[in-house]
Amino acid sequence: MRISLSDDSLQQAPVDILVIGVRSTNPKKDALLDKVVKAAGGTVVTRAIKDEGFEAKSGQTLKLAVGGRLKAPWLLLVGLDAKATPEDARTLGARAVRAAKQQKSVGIVLPEDAAAEVRLAVEGLIGASYRYETYKTGSRRSKGGVKSALLLTADKKRADLRDALKHGRALADAVNLARDLVNGPPNDIHPIALADAAKKACDDAAEDVEKGSLTCKIYDEKWLTKERMALFLAVNKGAATPARLAHMVYKPAGAKKRVVFVGKGLTFDAGGLCIKPAGSMVDMKCDMAGAAVTIAIVVAAARMRIPVEVHGVIGTTENMLGAAAYRPSDVYTSREGKTVEIINTDAEGRLVLADVLHWASELEPDYLVDHATLTGACMVALGNYRAALYGNDDEFADAYMEAASDSGEAYWRMPLDADLKSSLKSDVADLKHTGSRYGGSITAALFLQEFIGKTRWVHLDIAGPAYVDHAHGRYPKGGTGFGVATGVSFLHRLAKEQADT
Ligand code: BES
Ligand code: MN
Ligand code: ZN
Repeated sequence: MRISLSDDSLQQAPVDILVIGVRSTNPKKDALLDKVVKAAGGTVVTRAIKDEGFEAKSGQTLKLAVGGRLKAPWLLLVGLDAKATPEDARTLGARAVRAAKQQKSVGIVLPEDAAAEVRLAVEGLIGASYRYETYKTGSRRSKGGVKSALLLTADKKRADLRDALKHGRALADAVNLARDLVNGPPNDIHPIALADAAKKACDDAAEDVEKGSLTCKIYDEKWLTKERMALFLAVNKGAATPARLAHMVYKPAGAKKRVVFVGKGLTFDAGGLCIKPAGSMVDMKCDMAGAAVTIAIVVAAARMRIPVEVHGVIGTTENMLGAAAYRPSDVYTSREGKTVEIINTDAEGRLVLADVLHWASELEPDYLVDHATLTGACMVALGNYRAALYGNDDEFADAYMEAASDSGEAYWRMPLDADLKSSLKSDVADLKHTGSRYGGSITAALFLQEFIGKTRWVHLDIAGPAYVDHAHGRYPKGGTGFGVATGVSFLHRLAKEQADT
C-alpha cells in the first residue's frame, strides 16, 4: 500500500473515500463533523446520519455517497470513544480498510497533527489489510483492497511526521511478516525454512540500514552438538528435519545497550511420544510464534534504526515421534551443565529454550527477553488475549510492562514463586523438566530460570494471544504477531533513556 502525507484540504483530497472520526452526531458539538457537513454542502451528511441511525458510538461506522462539493465521492464517518487518544488514528486506518470495497484510495483526516497519530494510522491501515493467501489460487484470492492512502495533515514536510510514517510502516510490515510465518503450513515452514526466513528477512532489510550492521548466521545440527545443546537436540530426535539455530544481529554505530531476544521455534509440536490428542494438535503450527516475533522485532528495529544493539536468537525444530524419539525418563545434560530428567515429551519448548537461553546469556546482554508459546496452563490462567510476563528483575519487568502499555498489547506480570521449585526435583537427575500441574505456566518459567544465571531476563508466555481462532481488536484470525509491538516499544524506551542521559 502506498501511504503518503498530504496537505490537501478535505474538499480537495483526490481519494475515493474520505475518512473522519466523530464523537457526536451534532455538528455544533463536533468541529470536524461541522467542517465536513459544510464542505459537502446541503444536508446530505446530516440526513444520512439520521436516516441510518448513526449515533457516533465507538466502533460504529457510516459510509455514504457525497457526490457534492467534496472531491471524494464517498465519506466514512467513524464513531470514536468520548476520550480522545492517539489510538483513534489506528481505528480510523483499520476502519478505512474494512469499509472500502470498490474504493482503491482512502484519505484519512487525522484527529491531531502529531507523530503518534501518523504512526498509528499507518499501523491501522497496513495491519487491517493483512490477509493470508499464499496458498489460495485463482478466484479464491481476494481482489482489490486499498492501494493507496493519504494522511491529511497541515504540513506534509514535517520531519517528525515523515519519520512516524516510516516507523509505522516498519512495525506493521514486521507484524505482518510474523503473521505470515505463523500461518505458514508446517510442511513448508519447517526448521530449515524458518532459519532461512530469518536470514532472508535480514537480507531484505539490509538495504535500509547501514552497511554490515544487520547480519544473520545459521547454525546446523553439528554445531548444536559441538555446543553441547543436548536438551535442544533431544527434542529433535524424533523429527525427520534437522534442528537449526539462527542468530540475527543488528549492531548500529553508537549503541550502548545490548538486548537479546530469544524465540521458541517449534515448527510443529505433535507432543512427541506423549502425543497430543488430534484436537490440540491441529493448531500446533503456531508453536514457532516466539521465533516469528523475534525475527520481526530485529527487522523492525533495524529498519527504524533504533540506536540499540539487538540480537534475535531462534531455536527451531519439530517435536515428532518415532523410533528415535526422546522418551519420558531419559536423562540429558544441558549446555549449562545441569542434568535433566524427561517427564512429558510434550513439554519440549522449555528444553529447547533452556539450551538456547544459556547460549544467549553468554552474549552478555543487558536485557534478555524470550517469547514462547510455552504452556496451555498460561491460556487457562490469562485467556486468549493476554500474555504472561515473568521477570527476575523488577525494574526491567516494570519497564517492559510500561512498553506494553505504550504499544497497547495486554500482558500480566506473573510470579516466579520459589515455593513451586520443589516440584522440579528429580530422583535421578538434577532437575525434572515438568512440575506440578497447578501453576504450570509458573513451573515452566522456573525451569527456564535455571539456565540464565544472573542475566536480567523477561520471559513472555504468548501461548494465548499468538494464535487465535477469531479476529479480535487489532488482531486477525490465525497468527497475530502479538509481541512485536511491545518488543519494539521497549527498544524505543531504551533509546530514549540513552539519549536523555
Ligand atoms: N506448545 C505447547 C503449548 C501450547 C498449547 C501453545 C496451546 C499454544 C496453544 C507446549 O509445548 C505444550 O505442549 N505444553 C504442555 C506442557 C505440559 C505437558 C507440562 C501443555 O501446556 O499442556
Ligand atoms: Mn508441547
Ligand atoms: Zn510446544
